[in-house]
Parts: sequence; C-alpha cells; structure tokens
Amino acid sequence: MPTPILIDTDMGVDDAVAIALALASGDLEVAGLASVGGNVSLDQATLNIGRLLAGLGKETWPLMGRGLDQAQVGLRDASHVFGEDGLGGCSLPPPGRLETLDYLDLYERCIETHGRELVILAIGPLTNLAGVLRHRSGLLQRAGRIVVMGGAVWCKGNVTPHAEFNFYRDPGAAAAVLAAGLPVTVVPLDVTRQVALDESHVAQLSRAGTRAGDLLAEMIRFPLEAEGDAAHGSFLVHDALALGAVIWPPLFMRAQMALEVVVAGEQAGRSKPLVAKDKSRQIGVVMSVKVVDFVENMLERLCHQGFVV
Ligand code: RIB
Ligand code: CA
Repeated sequence: MPTPILIDTDMGVDDAVAIALALASGDLEVAGLASVGGNVSLDQATLNIGRLLAGLGKETWPLMGRGLDQAQVGLRDASHVFGEDGLGGCSLPPPGRLETLDYLDLYERCIETHGRELVILAIGPLTNLAGVLRHRSGLLQRAGRIVVMGGAVWCKGNVTPHAEFNFYRDPGAAAAVLAAGLPVTVVPLDVTRQVALDESHVAQLSRAGTRAGDLLAEMIRFPLEAEGDAAHGSFLVHDALALGAVIWPPLFMRAQMALEVVVAGEQAGRSKPLVAKDKSRQIGVVMSVKVVDFVENMLERLCHQGFVV
C-alpha cells in the first residue's frame, strides 16, 4: 500500500526535484501539495506547483492548497539561487487550470482521509504548519510523521551565519512546530550540504528520455551557475534529501534531541540543540546520509521510471 504524503513547498528547484521524485515513487501517493511563500512569492509558488504538474504530464493531479506568505517584510528570497520564477527560468508555461483549496482545508482533507498513515513533508518555511496548529487545534496531532527540511544545527547557516533559509523566513513558526510535541524529524543543512549534483548528473537526467529528466535538467542549470551556498558548478538537493529520509530510511542516521529555534534578534532562525530532560520535547534530527546510495536511488527513480498515474 503506498504511503500517502502531503508536501508543503515554497517551490524552488530543489522542491521541484523532491516533488518529481515523489511522483515517480510507486511506494508513495502524493495526497496533496500546499504552497507557502519563501524561495519565491506565495503566488509564484502556487503557480509553480501547477507548472510542474502540467510539465510532468500528470493525468490526475494531487489536491492543491494555497498557503501563506511570511508576514515580515524585507525578508530575503532565493531568486538569486533559483531565478525570478523559482524554477531556474525554465520554459514551463503557466498551467491552463489551477484549482486550489485553502491550505487549512487541504490539511484537514488529507488528515481526515489518511490519519496516521499520512506523512507531512515540509520543504519550505513552516508558516503553514504553524497556521494549522493555530487555527485547527489538534489536527496535526492526528496525522503521522512530519519530516522538515530546515535548520543548521552544528554548521553555518545559508542566509545568515546562524540561520538556514526555511527557519530564517519564519523562525516563530519553526519554533512553534518543533516545540509542539509532534513526531517531527528535521533534515538540517548539516546533512543536506553533503549531497550536491553536478554536470554529470544533469547529463544523466537529460539522457534519460523522461519528462522529469528533461524538465529537471533544464531547471538545474540555473542554480548550477548561480552564486549561492553551493560551490560553483554544483547544486544542493536539500528538499529531495528530506524526501529520501521518507522513502529510504536505512540510508539515514538519526539522533533524538530537543532543538530550540531563536525567534528574534541577530540570531533569529538559529536552531540550537537543547539538553531537554523532558523526552516529549525531543525530535528526530538526521545526522548523516549514505550519499552515493541516495544519489543513485534518486537518479534511478527520476531517470528510469515512468510516473505512477
Ligand atoms: O535552506 C534550503 C531550503 O530553503 C530548501 O528547502 C530550499 O528550497 C529553500 O526553501
Ligand atoms: Ca524548499
């Protein structure tokens, strides 16, 4: 029976890799896609979900929900890494149709339908999840695991020296979600920085003859050349790695610890390990990954399997 998954995404290029990987995985059922502001504006992130699904030629589309943007003005986005459109300026046209629920209704529908089977994968700022905690009390507690790409526990941030982008964009939301006693596993920069794609991987994708391979090869060219956290000529697949922790758990080593998120000031967005005697505050934190196995598995799925329609 495929595992149902709800993906909450700010739709940059690494988000697109993660979603294409999820759609190419017969052991997953993408039950819903919720947009959140972050890499790009909420409107653009919502549009990008439709662009990607149409571009991948999906016959049936997962339920879509339009989420929230961050309230704070003047926050940095990631257009310098992923392009103004968030998807590397690729040739994907706007989708013909885009029917979206409100994100709260999407979460409610997916959790009512799938209950504890549902995995929630949060690969953008946690603004929507904090919104569900606030407006639908008790709902997230009825879902299953929550896997979050975010944080920089022992390494430098990628936006400020302290903060990783998703936690930087909404530190209050990250603090609320990590302290809510939910079954959360965080996949931080400490690990995602270990997995970089380069031209050889892009060549493999473009030779595959799959829609995903063609699309992702085109999208990844922009971040490969962009000046950002990754070395020039390489592309960090942060979000696809977080999905990998759902699909291939044996490739990942985790620890249990409490993480505190600094919510204001110069260190806002910093995720600090806490010695918490109260075990209910502890969450999973991915510490390492078998890099070669993960990259091989990911490319195998993206290059050699048609989409599960
Ligand atoms: O710091 C990396 C994370 O921020 C990734 O999810 C990337 O897509 C951006 O959202
Ligand atoms: Ca993301």
